[in-house]
Amino acid sequence: MCGIIGILGSHEVSPQLVEALKRLEYRGYDSAGVATVDAKGNLGRRRAVGKLVNLSDRLVHEPLTGHTGIGHTRWATHGAATETNAHPHQRGPVAVVHNGIIENFRELREEVIALGMTPESQTDTETVALLTAHYIANGASPVEAARKTLKRLQGAFALAFLFDGEDDLMIAARRGSPLAVGHGEGEMFIGSDAVALSPFTDRITYLEDGDHAILTRAGARIFDAQDRPVERATAQIDVGATQIDKGGHRHFMAKEIAEQPVVLGDALNHYIKEGRIVLPEALDFSQVDRLTLVACGTAYYAAHVARYWFESLAGLPCDLDVASEFRYREPPLSPKSWALFVSQSGETADTLAALHYARGKVARTIGVVNVGTSAIARDADIALPTLAGIEVGVASSKAFTCQLAVLAVLALKAAHDRGRIDDQQLRAHLEDLRSLPGLLNQVLGVSDECRRLADWLSEAQDVLFLGRGAFYPIALEGALKLKELSYIHAEGYASGELKHGPIALIDRNVPVVVVAPNDALFEKTISNMQEVMARLGQVLLISDAAGILAGGEGVRATLTMPSGGGVFAPILYAVPMQFLAYHTAVAKGTDVDQPRNLAKSVTVE
Ligand code: F6R
Repeated sequence: MCGIIGILGSHEVSPQLVEALKRLEYRGYDSAGVATVDAKGNLGRRRAVGKLVNLSDRLVHEPLTGHTGIGHTRWATHGAATETNAHPHQRGPVAVVHNGIIENFRELREEVIALGMTPESQTDTETVALLTAHYIANGASPVEAARKTLKRLQGAFALAFLFDGEDDLMIAARRGSPLAVGHGEGEMFIGSDAVALSPFTDRITYLEDGDHAILTRAGARIFDAQDRPVERATAQIDVGATQIDKGGHRHFMAKEIAEQPVVLGDALNHYIKEGRIVLPEALDFSQVDRLTLVACGTAYYAAHVARYWFESLAGLPCDLDVASEFRYREPPLSPKSWALFVSQSGETADTLAALHYARGKVARTIGVVNVGTSAIARDADIALPTLAGIEVGVASSKAFTCQLAVLAVLALKAAHDRGRIDDQQLRAHLEDLRSLPGLLNQVLGVSDECRRLADWLSEAQDVLFLGRGAFYPIALEGALKLKELSYIHAEGYASGELKHGPIALIDRNVPVVVVAPNDALFEKTISNMQEVMARLGQVLLISDAAGILAGGEGVRATLTMPSGGGVFAPILYAVPMQFLAYHTAVAKGTDVDQPRNLAKSVTVE
């Protein structure tokens, strides 16, 4: 996590750094800072705890001049969110910004202390500045010093170095964490992603793992881990419409929830044309013996829903894992299997590492990603865009439903390729998918009812979410959304699992949200719901009209959903999960778009 930016520019750079940091704030918002080298070669910095706006305010009162600068927005890993721990870390003639984790920083810290230096912060990053300053003090040039330092570092990181007295020099390095170099006219840039650089340039070079770049205004020289000069391709990157506004909504998340009928329609239009599935030819599932699905958080729940589809529709055996576990489990993978990675950002460190683990072991890797320029999009054999558009709200909403839409299309392709469904059945399923945008429009109507229910939920200490089959991951997603937005403790359970322990939690103070459309599993879930009500549990039943009629007696509240969508109805039921969390957060007054402790792109493991 953390966002970094660097500019060798031709104007006052502080406003540009702040502009770029706005686009990187999704990577963390515990603190922000900038450092510049002014016309006289003086290195200076400003930092502020909390959101970027605090740094902007500080720069108004304490301006920082110079045409060369680096900036940072932090998601704290080592050391609390204080100004002392905020980046840039400046020691002697060196300022450093960093994204990632220096795993051997304790050892390096001991070393610099033994050399007589005193760390000021609790961060791993400061040791990088101290070590580099030490090498410079012992006669190394800035480039030599940075190189020596880089060789000492273990872990995954992206770094940018700035030096006192060097108005035309910046060093950037990448190991694990993403870093893009931007080419301007007599200006050069580095940034954590192409979106941050989009106000300045669309000509981007992605550094590869182990690379470092020496930048001056004349250009970038790139070197590999052995300091050998290397060529890396420069491409014109279209980051799309990067205009970011709330479109009249109170929060980005409200806007993004409301956009779902449109963006889901866009995603479906991309993959279904004239009643046929349009996917790269290489995606022929007929010979695949197993599918491994890997992701984190909400994206993992999308993969979890998809597993039900791949297994039941396509008869394709699936493994499903959270990326942080998968990557260290050393799972044996069949060479005839495929591995599929789901990620909004396409930069999640664990998911990316899981992809790298699978590469070469499976026949094909597939990335289902929202950010087309991301590392997972670049590194997967086949990248399938989810086309949700930029998602600003840190808690995922439209990216989730678009992931589900793409996964649904893939599952249908698999079912057809494997002879599990014929043309006619495929057409019927595609019609179900096609009906979703219209149905989603209707589902948006549950917002008002969710707002009323939020008064009840916002008083709760704990909330349980229950679901069965493909609605079980939707219950898990409901609990995750409520936790992250409202800070209320919530858990999702498979309805049938409740009586194996969690039922002990039930009393009249624990709202229980039951996600149960009137499908083949309805009666079973309703039985589990009765078990809850027999213990005075207060139930919110979310179902279609027939389900509410059949099972709604005695529940505290109901939410009526449209029927339809066939096996893809879980996509519809994601929306009340989002609204319940959203309105509860608003009722509690929490920060909906940037909940505490979170970041949009999790680039540390
Ligand atoms: C929750 C949420 C996270 C992400 C997770 C994976 O609302 O957004 O759980 O889903 O951090 O991120 P991506 O999809 O970028 O890999």
